[in-house]
Amino acid sequence: MSDIKRLGILTSGGDCAGLNAAIRAVLHRAITHYGWTVYGIHDGSLGLMNRPLQYSELTLDLFSGNLLRMGGTMLGTTNKGDPFAFPMPDGSRKDRSGEFVEGFKLLGLDALIVIGGDGSMKILNKLCKQGGLPMVGIPKTIDNDVHCTDFAIGFTTAVNVAVDALDRLQPTAASHHRVMILEVMGRDAGHIALNAAIAGGADVALIPEIPYSLEGVINRIEEVKREGRNHALVVVAEGCHTEDGRPLTVAWDASERRYGGIGHYLSQKLSERVEAETRVTVLGHVQRGGEPSNRDRILASAFGVHAVDLVADGQFDRVVVWQNRGVTDVAISKVVIGPRAVDPGDDMVRIARGLGIYVGEPA
Ligand code: F6P
Repeated sequence: MSDIKRLGILTSGGDCAGLNAAIRAVLHRAITHYGWTVYGIHDGSLGLMNRPLQYSELTLDLFSGNLLRMGGTMLGTTNKGDPFAFPMPDGSRKDRSGEFVEGFKLLGLDALIVIGGDGSMKILNKLCKQGGLPMVGIPKTIDNDVHCTDFAIGFTTAVNVAVDALDRLQPTAASHHRVMILEVMGRDAGHIALNAAIAGGADVALIPEIPYSLEGVINRIEEVKREGRNHALVVVAEGCHTEDGRPLTVAWDASERRYGGIGHYLSQKLSERVEAETRVTVLGHVQRGGEPSNRDRILASAFGVHAVDLVADGQFDRVVVWQNRGVTDVAISKVVIGPRAVDPGDDMVRIARGLGIYVGEPA
């Protein structure tokens, strides 16, 4: 057993539904079961880098009923500002990692729970290693691209939002005999697109991991018509490239690429060759907000309790994960190896194809 008295917790990277449910679970276990004091660090790593430190003590009175249900993160977060190369106002980059480590010590923390995606967990792990800070990670991201876990917090809520969009698009598509294109998030991973297409009855699911041809998309739409349906639903992941391999991201600044545009590209290409009107819906950040699904609440609760138990056991540099219908944990070194793409041999790809969905060209 470790000798913990003061536990820090922060959320890092893009927000998603279920973060507050995870914070709630950590609070519950740490305060009620172990009697520790818990400090919520504000705005990801910034809270420990800034002076004065930005944090608040998280107490049991925060357990009002709505914490479990709330979208976003009560702690704030950031998906910018790598402390090892922090963007300064004059455009230069500065290594501010020492300030983070110092902040941890100034606050007198004994351990830190980091709720983040693969990118932010990698940075936080490097920071904690540098300072010898005990850390446990909890995976979250709507993209579901964290290694070693079947699910990350936020994914099922995002898929629900995308499926809800398809449910709403289908009747209007049918009424106007249209091809509806839904562009979903996921960066370079197609998990949201693939799962939403299966659950939402789409005819086409384009994901960055599997090359497609416009011919293939058009063939499927024509086939749907021959089967007697007057409309079609196409789901495309924001990270898909044009047919000739051009990425549709925008270099926003030196460190950031923003995704978007593939839906409109497809719409234009299809409308030239398909005898039906096309319309595009870009779902964007609505996939991140709103109340967490029941699955995300359960996942976040299990992750939060398990993470605190790991800290109590003195098991650090580990990430809690969901495998084989239960919560367990793995070494962080196995997780922070880059984003987990959809494996083209994955069951979900086979299932989608089994449903007649065009998922790009078979290998
Ligand atoms: O990684 C999560 C995610 O929502 C991606 O799916 C999306 O491309 C990106 O974040 C958007 O980031 P931002 O909030 O900076 O626009």
